[in-house]
Amino acid sequence: MFAPRPTHASVLLYSAALLTLGAAAIHFVVAPPHLREYAPFGVFFFAVACAQVIYAVELLLRPTRGLALLMAVGSAALVALWFVSRTSGLPFGPLPGTPEPIGMTDIICVVLETLAALLFAAFGLRQPRRRVRRAWLRAVATIPSALFTSALTTLAIAGAMTSMPVSVNAAPRMPGQAAISAADFTEPPGSEPLDRFTLVAQVSQIDGATAWTYNGMVPGPELRVRQGDRVQVTLINQLPESTTVHWHCLQLPNAMDGVAGLTQDAVPPGQSFTYEFVAREAGTYWYHSHQQTEAQLQRGLFGALIVEPVQATEDCDYTVVLHGAPGHVRVSNTHLEARPGQTVRVRIINAVAPGMDGGPEVALVAGAPLTVAALDGHDLQGGGLLDTTRIPLGMGQRADVVFTMPPTNRVDLRVSELQGDTTFVQDVFERLSPPSLRSDVVTVGDGAVPPAVDPASAPMFDALHYGAPGAGDSQSFATSASIILDKKPGVRDGRVELVHTLNGQASPNVPPLEVSQGEHVLLHIVNNTDEFHPMHIHGHVFTVVARNGEPVSGSPLRLDSVLVGPREAWDVAFVADNPGIWMIHCHVLLHASMGMSMTLNYSGVYSPFEMGSQGGNMPE
Ligand code: C2O
Ligand code: CU
Repeated sequence: MFAPRPTHASVLLYSAALLTLGAAAIHFVVAPPHLREYAPFGVFFFAVACAQVIYAVELLLRPTRGLALLMAVGSAALVALWFVSRTSGLPFGPLPGTPEPIGMTDIICVVLETLAALLFAAFGLRQPRRRVRRAWLRAVATIPSALFTSALTTLAIAGAMTSMPVSVNAAPRMPGQAAISAADFTEPPGSEPLDRFTLVAQVSQIDGATAWTYNGMVPGPELRVRQGDRVQVTLINQLPESTTVHWHCLQLPNAMDGVAGLTQDAVPPGQSFTYEFVAREAGTYWYHSHQQTEAQLQRGLFGALIVEPVQATEDCDYTVVLHGAPGHVRVSNTHLEARPGQTVRVRIINAVAPGMDGGPEVALVAGAPLTVAALDGHDLQGGGLLDTTRIPLGMGQRADVVFTMPPTNRVDLRVSELQGDTTFVQDVFERLSPPSLRSDVVTVGDGAVPPAVDPASAPMFDALHYGAPGAGDSQSFATSASIILDKKPGVRDGRVELVHTLNGQASPNVPPLEVSQGEHVLLHIVNNTDEFHPMHIHGHVFTVVARNGEPVSGSPLRLDSVLVGPREAWDVAFVADNPGIWMIHCHVLLHASMGMSMTLNYSGVYSPFEMGSQGGNMPE
């Protein structure tokens, strides 16, 4: 240790040196990953860290105004370098001229260096003073800056050590083992009638707000195809960032699933990608970006995909997308045509990104009794007529409601938000972002307004006990696994956040669910939080077995997203009949982006793609 000379080193100098040592510690921690990414940067960080330690100690041992001024200039130069690298980008390095992302770690480091530069300059420029404080007084006066520096440094180092790996493979190829690439699961050629679409992902103005759109509209164009058709969609990316299209719960070949870093590389700006699959099952589906999903979906990159049955069963067939892009919660249609006596199907798709509580949207139909004909695109059997009922829909879920237009010729569909139990953190969040303006009523027909109903008094639809039971699924399962949903404050991907975990880990560290083709799998999903988690599986369908131990007594329930409410436990089963590498995640994209995401890996299949900042594939 150094022996400060009580006559010269001041509180100012102690504090500045501490701040510099904090910055040096951060530089030591970030040097190795930089070394791996681009060696000269790693060497530079290491050299800077060493210089900071040497000069800070030297200054404490032999304080001179000249050295202090040198330190001030040096620290300021580091801050300026950071500023350039984060704005215009450095002219050299792995990605010359590209600004680097700003993270918690580098912000803290720059704050420490800025303060140090100011203190060094103050020491170097001030008039020498006669008054000399006692050593212990100086030590006490330095405590606040010592605490400040160590707290920030710890946070920054924690951030650096938990940052997303530059590249991670969710299903790496094992050397010496025969394996099929996920990219090889494409739709084999066939002679089905062909439906061709083009989706141009572009920046557009919608209602005076900037949105990211498909073909200039939000939601994107409704893609309507006939069951059994071959669907070919070309995505042309005119956005400033890379993107993909994911076909939410179509059971298509893995390579067509559109997940960046898992089933394909994200499509860079200016390039295109063609998806092709056969729409085997009729139903209400939707599509959305699966690159930077949370951000891109909320900017407007989603739309409806309807697979019509070979024979239409209703006179009118409409789609209503609930969404919040750009801006406030709204519906995609505000008025639908129908005449008295006609049967109407309304396919409701919930694309509203909820807040931290993950609460569902609740749809209420007033003016006519209805049946719930399908959930998540799968028909319910034998469902009877319901009077005014609230139908909860977690994000990503769909409900098809069918009603007959009454003689009064007016039915209203209203949508509201269901609040979960509030927690302290959530309260704070909601205070920061007050509930947005909503315009979410759809009117069907032109008659008089149906009588007002108090939504709070309407019963809540419970799919577990609706309709007629069918032939039960096999009750013997080759694999059973638990997925425990939880959350804890922590540091992840260089940010302080409410980390959302699956089995105690956050993505990309959640161990995958491993299955073999043909296996029947039972999943026990347990929610240990006070939030809602619509747990979603790609490429497969869950058959609900029980909720909180209570078995399904109504129609067989086939869902691709199960809305697991606060503290609930659901048992769901699925058949591993679609080989590939698939995602399982919470469809509250905020939760997914905070770690609530994992993969379903078939044995013998690997992914040739990587997620992480290096290749730019960020599926969450
Ligand atoms: Cu709607 Cu992983 O998706
Ligand atoms: Cu969730």
